[in-house]
Parts: sequence; structure tokens; C-alpha cells
Amino acid sequence: MHGFELDITECGWYNAVRMNPPAIAIDGPAASGKSTVAKLIARELGYTFINTGAMYRAVTWYALQQGVCPADAEAVKALLPGIPLSFGKDGANSTVMCEGKVLSGELTETAVNDNVSAVAAIPEVRALLVEKQREYNLTEPVVMEGRDIGTVVFPNTPFKYFVTASEEVRAARRAAQGLTDSIAERDRKDSARACAPLVQAEDATLVDTSELTIEQVVAKVVADIKSKI
Ligand code: DC
Repeated sequence: MHGFELDITECGWYNAVRMNPPAIAIDGPAASGKSTVAKLIARELGYTFINTGAMYRAVTWYALQQGVCPADAEAVKALLPGIPLSFGKDGANSTVMCEGKVLSGELTETAVNDNVSAVAAIPEVRALLVEKQREYNLTEPVVMEGRDIGTVVFPNTPFKYFVTASEEVRAARRAAQGLTDSIAERDRKDSARACAPLVQAEDATLVDTSELTIEQVVAKVVADIKSKI
């Protein structure tokens, strides 16, 4: 929910209840086009774009740096208190930093691609990052991209979009980016995990990008958002 709402108490007093600014939830599988779409929607609306995949990737990268096996959930959990990652902004985009250095190419290293699903399946990692994700929306409107934004991070937002494309289209897009990780395998793990699996929220609008241009997808979603604001 967003804006302010009047709430009438039992004894008849009105209270102005502070609601968060709008949060646009963009979920979907890997290489569905959701990052590109989410970034453009954010630009069009003047909202901040938050890439939550980068946050899970940063924890994975840090674990690997520390010589911790990402499949060892107990060892990853032990790293969390005092983990030197911080989540901020550069202009209208979210950033992830480790000890003051912005992480970028590190986050798409092959080892990170191969292990991020294991780290993202750890409930304690998710709890920490979901809290950070919600903090962004306390003070500003956001377009947040991920896997569980509409189901877990902002379950009450009226703006939920599940962006997808056929497996062939997604594999071709990934290859065009020069990335060779197994998308199907990562999606399978992300969808099968017990905690916050990749799933379309019941009240999310399905957006299939296979046959549409990016411009068409963005126009469609922005029009829908504007009709609800
Ligand atoms: O969007 P991405 O491909 O960069 O995400 C990397 C991984 O992080 C993805 O395989 C699943 C996980 N992830 C998640 O579990 N929840 C999110 N909100 C975002 C990403």
C-alpha cells in the first residue's frame, strides 16, 4: 500500500496512518527480460530501481571469497553477523558494496552464477536481505526486481508483475549476453526451494515478453500502474 490512509478508531477518532510510497514488484525467472523492463519502468516513473538478485549474488561472492562452501548453509549463516556488505544507491539504481567498494563484474562470475541458488535458499540469508529490501521503500517509491517481491517482500502492493518468456527465448538472450550458466537448472532450484520459491503471486499480472518488444512491455506495464495510482 502507499500514500496515507484515514483509519477510524473504536472511539471515533481519525488517525492518519502512514503508508509506504508505491512499490512495484517485478518477479520472474532468469533472463525473462525483467531487469531491462524493471529499469525502464523505474526511469519512466522516476522511481528507484532495485536489483535484489545482486544482493543474493553479493552474499554468494563474499562466501566464496572467504573460502566458505555455498552449499554449507551453517557456514554461510555463520558469516552473516557483521558481514561487510552494504546496500545503497547510485542515482536511481541500487548498488552493493563490500567494505566501501562497489561490486559489479564480481557478481556475474561463473562461480557466483553456479552457487547463488544454494545461498538464496538459506532462510537466514533471505530474512536479512528482505529486511534491507523493505528499507529502500520506507522513504521512496521503488521498482524492485527479483523472485519473491510480490509474494514475500511486498505482499500488499497492488503493483505486481510476473515477467516471463519461453525457455528458448530466455536461453538465446542469456547467450547473447555472453553468459553460459544453466538457466533451466537455476530456475528449477529457485522454484523448488522451501523458502520463498520463485512462483507467480496469485494477484500478479502475467507479462510474457517472448513476442513483445521491450518498449511494448514497458508501455503495457506503465499504463497498468498509472491506471491504479
Ligand atoms: O536476478 P538474478 O538472476 O541476478 O538472481 C540471482 C539469483 O538470486 C537467482 O538465481 C535467485 C536468487 N534471487 C532470489 O532468490 N530472490 C530474489 N528476490 C532475487 C534473486
